[in-house]
Amino acid sequence: MMSSFAPLQNDTFLRALRRQSTTHTPVWLMRQAGRYLPEYRATRARAGSFMQLAMSPAMATEVTLQPIDRYGLDAAILFSDILTVPDAMGLGLRFVEGEGPVFDRPLQDEMAVQRLEVPDMGKLQYVFDAVAKIRTSLQGRVPLIGFAGSPYTIACYMVEGGSSKEFRTIKTMMYRRPDLLHHILMVNARATTAYLNAQIAAGAQAVMIFDTWGGSLSGSSYEAFSLAYMRQVMAGLNREHNGEQIPVIVFTKGGGQWLEQMADSGADALGLDWATDIAQARARVGHKVALQGNLDPSVLFGSEKNLRAEVQRVLDGFGPHVGHVFNLGHGISQFTDPEAVKILVDEVHTYSRSSRVATPL
Ligand code: CP3
Repeated sequence: MMSSFAPLQNDTFLRALRRQSTTHTPVWLMRQAGRYLPEYRATRARAGSFMQLAMSPAMATEVTLQPIDRYGLDAAILFSDILTVPDAMGLGLRFVEGEGPVFDRPLQDEMAVQRLEVPDMGKLQYVFDAVAKIRTSLQGRVPLIGFAGSPYTIACYMVEGGSSKEFRTIKTMMYRRPDLLHHILMVNARATTAYLNAQIAAGAQAVMIFDTWGGSLSGSSYEAFSLAYMRQVMAGLNREHNGEQIPVIVFTKGGGQWLEQMADSGADALGLDWATDIAQARARVGHKVALQGNLDPSVLFGSEKNLRAEVQRVLDGFGPHVGHVFNLGHGISQFTDPEAVKILVDEVHTYSRSSRVATPL
């Protein structure tokens, strides 16, 4: 079946993920649609709350396109959140000003865990409607990335009931009742697989799994409680849609020490945080996977000269190979000057274009 969406005009992002040659290094930024943009703050004020914004396909489309219109980014990312899935499971998600996400009904007793089920995907129809609407509105300018949280990362919020620094509740469960945590992770993995497949069916051209808290685990726990379930999700994804390959990016923040295992997990690309040296990461994973990253988001607070030099350092670190998507090592801060992002995108494009000429692939 042919896609009913407009043909893609800029495929550098998808080509880099497939480790094919490109004219320049593609760039997008985690949290590129967010509070650092005045136009985002205006739409969010109109929506009333973050959840009302995310639940409106029209407004989610509007904010997804804001950074695309402002900068020459090479990919758009669905505007939504990783916590929509546990919300659809009935845990009652709220965002409290200055506190972040809060669940009214966290999983803190055995009964609650036993009752947990893969939600009816109809409850997440607003997400799939947003994906289709964004694809239509993009008119083929750049590809659209869909996403979900990793089973472990969403379990952190589901068990803790919100953000946490030391993860005492979930780690107590891990070391006292691993059976309960494995049950949650199994349900989360099934839900995440269905959720990402529905995003792909609606028009997502690549998908990313955000494992923000996998890096808080020990090596053996990472394998057993995070990577094993991401592997399960990836094994169940529809990697082809309308004759197009759908690449999968896995990002474990703080996971630099486990790159070899991650490269063998079924992912097409690995996201790197800024603590990992990209040259060493490239040497370790070789041609197995593409890499995405990994500028320290705080570099955007520095001088223009330093910003351009740090962008070049990341590009030089990756070197003259295929398979690099430029990004930050974590989400962009709300305190970033929008002008700094313009400089970053310009430097990635001009410097990578000139080094392509100097060093043919
Ligand atoms: O990258 C993008 O532009 C796409 C949108 C996106 C959001 N959240 C929007 C959002 C994506 C990909 C996410 C993923 C997400 N959400 C993660 C994984 C990535 C990461 O940051 O580590 C996590 C852990 C969450 C959970 C979450 N959502 C938290 C902890 C918070 C509160 C903290 C904060 O930054 O305010 C959110 C809210 C949220 N999700 C905002 C945005 C733009 C800020 C909401 C606002 O407008 O007030």
